[in-house]
Amino acid sequence: MQVISERVQKMIQEGLAYPLAQSSKEEKDFIKLCSNENPFGPSPMAIEAIKSEAEKVGEYPESSSIELKEAIGEYLDINPVHISVGNGSDEVMDMVCKATMNPGDKALIPIPSFSQYELICRINAMDPNFVYLEDYQWNIESLLEKTRDCRAIFIGRPNNPTGNSIDDEDLEMLLETEKLVIVDEAYGEFSDYTVVDWIEGYENLIVLRTFSKMFGLAGLRVGYGISSKEIIEAMERVRSPFNVNRIAQKAAIAALKDKEFVGKARETILNERNYLQRELESLGFKTLPSDANFIMTSPKPLGMNATDVCNYLNREGILIRNLSGFRGIESDWVRITVGRPKQNKRLIKTLEELIEG
Ligand SMILES: Cc1ncc(COP(=O)(O)O)c(C=O)c1O
Repeated sequence: MQVISERVQKMIQEGLAYPLAQSSKEEKDFIKLCSNENPFGPSPMAIEAIKSEAEKVGEYPESSSIELKEAIGEYLDINPVHISVGNGSDEVMDMVCKATMNPGDKALIPIPSFSQYELICRINAMDPNFVYLEDYQWNIESLLEKTRDCRAIFIGRPNNPTGNSIDDEDLEMLLETEKLVIVDEAYGEFSDYTVVDWIEGYENLIVLRTFSKMFGLAGLRVGYGISSKEIIEAMERVRSPFNVNRIAQKAAIAALKDKEFVGKARETILNERNYLQRELESLGFKTLPSDANFIMTSPKPLGMNATDVCNYLNREGILIRNLSGFRGIESDWVRITVGRPKQNKRLIKTLEELIEG
């Protein structure tokens, strides 16, 4: 008897798995610019909350994260009935598919984009369809055409790894098709825009957000979805009962309260993003403008190859993300997370040394 489901057998045969960032045994001493985390980590208030909750881990957490939903509701000015919380937005994405999609349903995935969209579709027996972002730019005509026979579309906004976004008018056109539109705002806090308040007008809109990026809580795994009451109720049905642990719930609530910490981190990250953009371009890299905390850039104009650049930086103690082999990426692009000022300077200096040979 074949004990593995056909769809998972297919994933195994194709070697389909989440492409983990390059790591190193001595990662502790490395400058880690490969996973789009906040280089300042979480607020001290979140760390305090983690410590004081630690002694209670003998007891199950509150099952539906109600206090956290209320805090998110206050943060975004929405009613908690429109919120469902998960073990990272990865889990929320899975809950969305379980709640809204049938086996065999087609979902449109613009590429390049976050690899997990395809994986979650495949795990849920859906049929992922891809549309290329020509020159890494959004094109509403090709999206509309390809959306026609799909039930859902995933939109990263800002998109990972390009860092850019479909504009409001084009997104509205997608929503008007009445397909399910899953807008992933994992990097929303770094941009100046959100469509959270559009849920009043569009029953087919699902917005995903996370505490992993701006709030510096990637290691605790907390994300959430915002949508119509009907979709949220269905997501709550398919959610496992204690999906968000008690430490994560308390830390996320505390992180939301520390507006000063988040405001300062955001300001520094955006300034540093401008610095990196300028410096990379003046070194001769081709870069894409970004609304997030990372930059997609290519060493090709310098006659260099992405893998060689990543390997060189790795030897020098700096980890960035090699995008070679990612769906929708031509060779020789990398993604660099904006780090702390000193880390960014060191990165630029190391790249200068590489170029000077
Ligand atoms: C676009 C995008 N969405 C979602 C996630 C997953 O976030 P989480 O840590 O909340 O699962 C990531 C993580 O890198 C991401 O880049």
